[in-house]
Amino acid sequence: MGKVTVFDHPLITHKLTIMRQKSTGTKDFSDLLTEISMLMTYEITRDLPLKEIEIETPICKTRQKIVSGKKLAIIPILRAGLGMVKGFLTICPVAKVGHIGLYRDPDTKEPVKYYFKAPADIAKRRIVVLDPMLATGGSCIAAITELKKLGCTEISTMNLVAAPEGIKALQEAHPDVNIYVAAVDECLNENAYIVPGLGDAGDRIFGTK
Ligand code: PRP
Ligand code: URA
Repeated sequence: MGKVTVFDHPLITHKLTIMRQKSTGTKDFSDLLTEISMLMTYEITRDLPLKEIEIETPICKTRQKIVSGKKLAIIPILRAGLGMVKGFLTICPVAKVGHIGLYRDPDTKEPVKYYFKAPADIAKRRIVVLDPMLATGGSCIAAITELKKLGCTEISTMNLVAAPEGIKALQEAHPDVNIYVAAVDECLNENAYIVPGLGDAGDRIFGTK
């Protein structure tokens, strides 16, 4: 079963609380999402392997370590996942970026795919799917299914807020995927929104409501 890691660092929790408040405007919401994404990326990449190389400092030659192993790719789920890209790339600028466009059908709440473009060597990369909201889990599950069709084997998700229902569904659909999240909330409401959540992440990032 995929591991669930909740990043309950005080700074992440504090910033998320500000994001949740309905009085927080688009700019602050976006900036805070970038900051939390940076902090989460720092933790998610903690297990990256290192290798020794020879370098020369102004003083002498020395063997020191750099990151090695599989290269990274991030796949933001449009639209709201875009809000996590800048934070991730600030910490890991060499990651390649693919995009998957999914929206939830307002009636069925099922994800509808409208776009998918991934780096050519995606199957060789370690992938992090970015989406602030893991509600029913349908969007992340669909994105991971598309990535697996391309041969991807090492996939995790980075979510801001998750509902227990979404975590369960994602673990059942893709038991090999690790989930990294800043908070696990109470439940979903009748419209499949996370409670207490933060509302519609896409609308709050892009000011569309
Ligand atoms: C939201 C959110 C996630 C999805 C989560 O996207 O950004 O992608 O819902 O819900 P799920 O876990 O039940 O699938 P939305 O469909 O509102 O599209 P948008 O980001 O383009 O607004
Ligand atoms: N999508 C969102 O943006 N927010 C939710 O709470 C659920 C799905």
